[in-house]
Amino acid sequence: PVLHRSIGTLNLNDIDKEVLIRARLHTSRAKGKQCFFTVRSVSQTIQCLLAVGETVSKPMLKFVGSIPKESIVDVEGKKIESCTQQNIEILASRVYVVSSSASRLPLQIEDAMRPETDDPEELQIRVNQETRLDNRILDLRTPSNQAIFRLEAGVCKLFRESLQRKGFTEIMCPKLISAASEGGANVFGLTYFERTAFLAQSPQLYKQMAIASDFEKVYTVGPVFRAENSNTHRHLTEFVGLDLEMAFVHHYHEVVDVIGDLFTEIFRGLQKEYKTEIETIRKQFPCEDFKFLDPPLKLDYREGVAMLKEAGIEMGEEEDLSTPNEKFLGRLVKAKYDTDFYILDKYPLAVRPFYTMLDPKDSRFSNSYDMFMRGEEIISGAQRIHDPELLTDRAKFHGIALDTIQAYIDAFKFGCPPHAGGGIGLERVTMLFLGLDNIRKTSLFPRDPKRLTP
Ligand code: 4AD
Repeated sequence: PVLHRSIGTLNLNDIDKEVLIRARLHTSRAKGKQCFFTVRSVSQTIQCLLAVGETVSKPMLKFVGSIPKESIVDVEGKKIESCTQQNIEILASRVYVVSSSASRLPLQIEDAMRPETDDPEELQIRVNQETRLDNRILDLRTPSNQAIFRLEAGVCKLFRESLQRKGFTEIMCPKLISAASEGGANVFGLTYFERTAFLAQSPQLYKQMAIASDFEKVYTVGPVFRAENSNTHRHLTEFVGLDLEMAFVHHYHEVVDVIGDLFTEIFRGLQKEYKTEIETIRKQFPCEDFKFLDPPLKLDYREGVAMLKEAGIEMGEEEDLSTPNEKFLGRLVKAKYDTDFYILDKYPLAVRPFYTMLDPKDSRFSNSYDMFMRGEEIISGAQRIHDPELLTDRAKFHGIALDTIQAYIDAFKFGCPPHAGGGIGLERVTMLFLGLDNIRKTSLFPRDPKRLTP
């Protein structure tokens, strides 16, 4: 028989046919002259039975009964009708161990597959997130984790496809850089021969320099490093940034519309192409479907503040949104417009980075925007200052040492088209699309202030 590496490729209607499958031993129970076991590949499991008889000896039964769970095995046998009680699908004649697992598992896959719960008693006995992350190799084997990372790859794929269709070029940006890109505080420094270098907090300065080099529309996908000591459900010290930057002709809203449309295409693509993954994930992590409008809802920052004030929050128009207020506004928007995604435009200038373009009509505000999913920020972006003198003034105003960003300022000395863009946090998009409660669930090997392994 041909070796099947996925249970999914077996035609279960082919009763009595000889089969050979390679999978993981999921559960196993030997009793008397029989051993019932299940094998698993990715998210499918199949029942098997080994019984002492013509082809199966007693020592063989004993051997199979002692194979540690999670070992990779080849099972040779015959497909048989599943009888309702035992649900047997393969009558095994031989079982080979391809790669043995340690016999003591730090976590049981069946435990890690249990649906989310708030029940405190149940939580006590449950395998907790830290144990899962400490043993991520095992944890990643659950069907929902397999589905989460297939869907996350889908976000990247749809991001690239959509921008490629819109005429963008993918660029690669250095991660070892000589100055902080997003301000001094949350940057990792490292020894670079006789100097200090930094890990890029974003590809911001480089994607803009690509615009100054006439690339017109660019995007980049890559790691972003933040030395933030934030132990929250949505902060990592290393995450994947999906960044884009684009020259525009008349108004920065041309870029806002491109980004809005990009998200519509990503959400639609996920709901269409990743139905099976979403269903699998929902079984363990129940959540309402993600709702969005086409075209997306765009609110002015001041409209957002007005909605909050009307709901009893005290805050000024030029004040930044606190995390709880962002969440609250998300709920108000959802109630009023029935969407989980919206754009908040024209942020107060004072709360934005030095490179942000001022609103020409009212310099207390800026040509900048954030976008939200289920009330949490997933992208921040802006029109950038492309005039080197104004940029110098703004850097000075922010107390940035000019010599550290001179190469960046100089990039605009030889003419640069007006441009805008934004940076998206990949893990946040996946987390919020799926309504998950923690960003560590959407990072393959998460890095946070306390975690540097595995
Ligand atoms: O808001 P941020 O810091 O903006 C920038 O990096 C700008 N250069 C973007 C631009 O083009 N103007 O980060 C952008 C996004 C956030 O909206 C969030 O989704 C994600 O990156 N992000 C984080 N994700 C995980 N952990 C963290 N510590 C994050 N910090 C930001």
